[in-house]
Parts: sequence; structure tokens; C-alpha cells
Amino acid sequence: MALICFASQKGSPGATMSALAVAAAWPHLAGRRKLLVEADPDGGVLATRYGLGREPGLLSLVGAGRQGMSSDGLWNHTQRLPGGLPVVVAPDRPEQTTAALTASGSVLGEWLQNLTDVDVIADVGRLGVSSPAIQFATAADLLLMVARPTADQIQPAAERLDTLSRSTKHVGWCLIGTKPYSSDEIEAVHGIRVVGTLADDPKGATALETGTSQHRRARSPLVRSAVSLAGAMAEWLHPNAEHLDHPEPTEEDVEVAEPEDIGSGALESDQTGDGIAPETPLASEAS
Ligand SMILES: Nc1ncnc2c1ncn2[C@@H]1O[C@H](COP(=O)(O)OP(=O)(O)OP(=O)(O)O)[C@@H](O)[C@H]1O
Ligand SMILES: [Mg+2]
Repeated sequence: MALICFASQKGSPGATMSALAVAAAWPHLAGRRKLLVEADPDGGVLATRYGLGREPGLLSLVGAGRQGMSSDGLWNHTQRLPGGLPVVVAPDRPEQTTAALTASGSVLGEWLQNLTDVDVIADVGRLGVSSPAIQFATAADLLLMVARPTADQIQPAAERLDTLSRSTKHVGWCLIGTKPYSSDEIEAVHGIRVVGTLADDPKGATALETGTSQHRRARSPLVRSAVSLAGAMAEWLHPNAEHLDHPEPTEEDVEVAEPEDIGSGALESDQTGDGIAPETPLASEAS
């Protein structure tokens, strides 16, 4: 069971991009599937960005949940990003996403967290005190606050993360870049661990957003750092899981997979780069 949420507090530091990059880079583990969920009350962006339908998605999943969900039924509410990564898209209209999360965020978060064979990576957007995604987010095994290591982003986010830590199993930072403050400085001042640092890589981020060639993406510092972070978190959550280098494609993968696109095996298996590695070993802290 695993639910990992990416949140932000202020500005647009890259919560959506971090969730997307880490989900795409999540390793294939025997007997497990991975899923990206949009749960940002301000509305989803992935359907529009990648030309997917508005449904199925969060609204249909929440609607089905009222009748009682089965884990098999979950996949009826997913679509595929180009390349095969399954995603539950949120409506782009904030009022619809907000209503769905207000009504069902708590139940949905706990249900996803309890799935035995799925690793769920979610974008919960700006997690202010009145966010409708709070109960969804605090159901997570790990809630990551995405921030650039600048005073104006870290200070308010640290206070928020401290509050959230009282109702969440594990919290930590996902920093974007290393300037001006290092992860050591941030940990020392705020006492919250830096789980990982993703490269500050505008070109790599644009490549992921616009779907330029896989070759460029696979080499990008952002992708390499996402592979490192995803690998470390997967190891922490599932220390004994068998890694599949060449997972058997499912029927759906064969139908939709485009090797050039997000979630492709080539991207995920690019373990050799020099992207920024996770800061803190997570293995000893699994509960
Ligand atoms: N690791 C990164 N390096 C450089 N640029 C990035 C990175 N991640 C995201 N960006 C860029 O930052 C901008 C915001 O990214 P994104 O939409 O992921 O942020 P967000 O925190 O989800 O914002 P919002 O609060 O609007 O949902 C985009 O232009 C994106 O390309
Ligand atoms: Mg976002």
C-alpha cells in the first residue's frame, strides 16, 4: 500500500511536474502497478495538456466510490498518458474538483492508500489551511512539500508542513534545485527532512510538458533526478520487491504505448545519469 502526495504552499514551485516526473520514473515492481492521480482542488491540467478526455477521471471515480469500489474497478476511471502511465485526471474546473474532494477526499485518500498492489502518486496542489484536499493528502504514507530552496518559499511551507506532520504518517521536502540554500541548511533550520531534490531544469520540464523526444528527456537532469527519487521511495516502501527491468506489457500498454512518451520503459530505466540523488535514506523510517 502506498499513497505519496506532492503539495505546495506558495507560488508554483512544480508540484504537478514533480508528481508527473516521479510517477513516470517509478520503477516497475513485481505484482505492483503505478498510478498518477490529480487531486488539486484548483483543477487538473493533464487532460488538457495531453489531449485526454475529461472523463473518466476523478469525478467518475468518486461517483463510483459511493456505490462501493473494487480495486479492479479503479482502472475503469483511469486514462493513459502518451506512453502508458495510467492517470486519474481531475476536471479543469476548480469548482468540480473542489466539490469532489470536499465530498469524498478523505474516503478516497484512505481507499487509495490501502490498495495492496498499487503505488499511487498524487498532485494535491496548494495545501493551505482551507484546502479541500487536506484529508486526501493526510491519508498519505508520505506527503512531500515541493518548494524551491528560497526563504520566501521555505519559510511559510515549513510552518505548514510542521502542522501537517501532526496528522500525516510521514512528511518531507521535495526541493527544486539547490540554490540559494542547501538541503542541509534547510534541514538544520527547520528540522524537517529533505526526502529528495529534483533538478531545477526548465528545459527538462518543458520537454516533459510538451512531449519532445524521449532521447532528450531521458538525458535531462530533471528525469535523472526523478528516477533517483522514485527509486529511493519505492525501495523505502517495498524493500523486498523484485524490480522488473522488462515488465510484461499489458494489453492496454500495447494498445496505447508510444515509446517516445511519458512513462516509457526507456525513461524509467535510465538509472545511470548524474541527476540529483535523494538526500536522505528512507529505508530505516518505513513504518
Ligand atoms: N524541476 C523543475 N525545473 C524547472 N522548472 C520546473 C520544474 N518543475 C516545474 N517547472 C516549471 O515551473 C512551472 C510550474 O510548474 P508546475 O505547474 O508543475 O507547478 P505547480 O506547483 O503545480 O503550480 P500550480 O500551483 O499552478 O499548480 C512550469 O513552467 C514548469 O515547467
Ligand atoms: Mg499544479
